[in-house]
Order: sequence, then C-alpha cells, then structure tokens
Amino acid sequence: MSDSEAAVAKIETVGVLGAGTIGASWASLFAASGYQVDVYDPAPEGEAYVRDYVETAWPSLEKLGLVKASTPKLAFFATPAEAVARAQFVQESVPERLPIKHEIYGQIEPALAPEAIVATSASGLLVRDMQQGWKDPSRFILAHPFNPPHLIPLVELLGNERTAEGVLDVAQGFFEGCGKVTIRVHKEVPGHVSNRLQAALWREAIHLVMEGVASVEDVDKAVWAGPGLRWSVMGPHMLFSLASGGHGIGKFCERYGDSFHTWWESMGSPKITPEVGEALAAGIADAEHGRDFASIAGERDAKIIGALQAFRKVDEGL
Ligand SMILES: NC(=O)c1ccc[n+]([C@@H]2O[C@H](COP(=O)([O-])OP(=O)(O)OC[C@H]3O[C@@H](n4cnc5c(N)ncnc54)[C@H](O)[C@@H]3O)[C@@H](O)[C@H]2O)c1
Repeated sequence: MSDSEAAVAKIETVGVLGAGTIGASWASLFAASGYQVDVYDPAPEGEAYVRDYVETAWPSLEKLGLVKASTPKLAFFATPAEAVARAQFVQESVPERLPIKHEIYGQIEPALAPEAIVATSASGLLVRDMQQGWKDPSRFILAHPFNPPHLIPLVELLGNERTAEGVLDVAQGFFEGCGKVTIRVHKEVPGHVSNRLQAALWREAIHLVMEGVASVEDVDKAVWAGPGLRWSVMGPHMLFSLASGGHGIGKFCERYGDSFHTWWESMGSPKITPEVGEALAAGIADAEHGRDFASIAGERDAKIIGALQAFRKVDEGL
C-alpha cells in the first residue's frame, strides 16, 4: 500500500464547513461513502436542511452504486472548530467571499489534527489568496466540484508551491474512493479549468442570442442535442481526433484549422448587462413551456442519473 493509500484508509471522519447548496450535497456523498460527517453551518435551519438533502439524495446515490453505508452518520456542531476536531479530511463550502474564508480558516487551524487535509470548494477565488488566512497552508488545497457534487463526477484539484508533498495524492485517492473523477490543475487561473470552458461556451451562446441568430431555447438545444451529448462521453480534443477518421488530431488541425480561425474571429465578447439578463430571462420563460423549477430540475437530475447508470454499464462491458 502506498503512503497516500494508507492515508486515505485512515480517513474515518469528514468535516463539512458550510452546508448550503454545495456543502449539503458533499455531506450526502461523504455519508453515502461510509464516513462520519461532522457539519458546521451557522444558519438556524442548517441541520434540517442537510438532513432533508441527504434523505432526498440517498436514493439517487443508491442508483449510482455510491452508497456504502446502511444509514448516514451525521453530527452537527455549534462551532467550526468542533466540526473539524476529529476529522482527517475537511471540505469547506462557505460563501465565496475571501474575508469569510479567511475567518473560518483562522477558527479551525488550531483545532485541526496534524494529518488533516482541508479542501475548499471555491469556484473563483485563487488558492494563493485563500492561503493568506492560514499560518501554515501546507495541507490546504482546492477541490472544486460541480453542482450538485453528489451527482456530477468532476473534482478539480489544485495546490501550489506552498502545498506539502503528497497532499494532492491523498485528496485524489479520497475523492476517487467516493466515486469522483479528478483532474489536476497545474497553474492558478481564475475559474480553474472547467468554469473557463463553460464561460467560453456561454459567451458565444449569449452572443448568438443577442445577435438574433437563434432563440435561447434553440441555442440550448444546439448544445444538448448535439455536441453536448458527445462531450458527456469524451472531451473536445479526443472527439476531434476521432473526427479525422483515424488520421489523428494533427490531420484534423491541418484540415479544419482555417475554418476555426474564421469562426473565432467572428465570435462576440458580450457583457452581461441588465438588457442581456432581461433578454435571457424572456428566452428562458418561453423555453420553460409553463413548467416549474422543480419539474425542470427533476428532469435534469433524472437524466444525469440515467446517463451515469448507462455509462457505468457500458464501462463494465468494455
Ligand atoms: N453553487 C455552485 O454551483 C457552486 C459550484 C462549485 C463550487 N461552489 C463554491 O462552493 C462554496 C459554497 O457555495 P454555495 O453555492 O453552496 O453557497 P450557499 O450560499 O448555498 O451556501 C453557503 C453556506 O455557508 C453558510 N455560511 C455562511 N457563513 C458561514 C460561515 N462563516 N461559516 C460556515 N458556514 C457559513 C451559509 O449558512 C450557507 O448554508 C463557494 O465557495 C462557491 O464558490 C459553488
């Protein structure tokens, strides 16, 4: 057993700091993975929210084969220090504001076990700025999920020169043990990798709507019914490599490079002004066809779960 495998095997308790949209979803996944989950959230209704969330998420996690516990082991604490005291791994998902992140790191640092790793879910803040909240940030990393983390596999892992050797390996082993797919981000850039890719696509999606090229509903269809379906299976580089009929990505670049240059040159750089917000809201109202939030969110989750189940079956047969 490697050192990082041994460190992952020693994890019994996971601390969850901030249990809103992301933290409650993490708590569900960690509890399903068989860990004791110690939660801190200052909201008065925090415990009820998490318990409800876990109960709702549990059947989905069962369908995905991610439940390794008979019941969730959850405990709630009045302070962040208590919620991390017996944890070997801590996932922080407090609001995306640097002073709040710094404050909570200052509160937990004296209470942490020496081997504990603390990961932040932060979407846009830079690790080097968040590290300022620590006396010793060597066991503090970024582990950025996608909403909802108990369903979407990707976790982006990032440390830097102040991160202790081996910490990212342990985090990778921990998340993969919970059924996640991890990537390593080697350089700090705002938005990490995946949010930048989403942002690039959304920029052009907004441009197409505002230029009247297609409606909000049709631009969305052009993603989910077309390339989006392929992207959920493989990434753009591998897909374009396959698109050259066995001649590889080099040939694809030769053949289609000029076309891409022409398209890139004509792409927009919209600003998200109030007018853009109103135009998108009107387009979404049309695209909803009278359905409410719960019905559309339910369709999204059911299809994600169905797709992941189907992919697992295919993987097992390969
Ligand atoms: N929502 C997303 O799609 C998404 C995706 C990936 C990462 N993230 C990141 O996850 C983090 C949390 O985002 P969210 O969407 O869950 O926010 P949220 O507002 O839904 O939840 C934040 C929770 O933190 C609690 N909180 C407030 N102050 C706190 C404090 N001092 N200590 C502990 N808890 C505190 C709140 O009561 C709330 O329950 C952010 O850093 C965000 O960037 C969000």
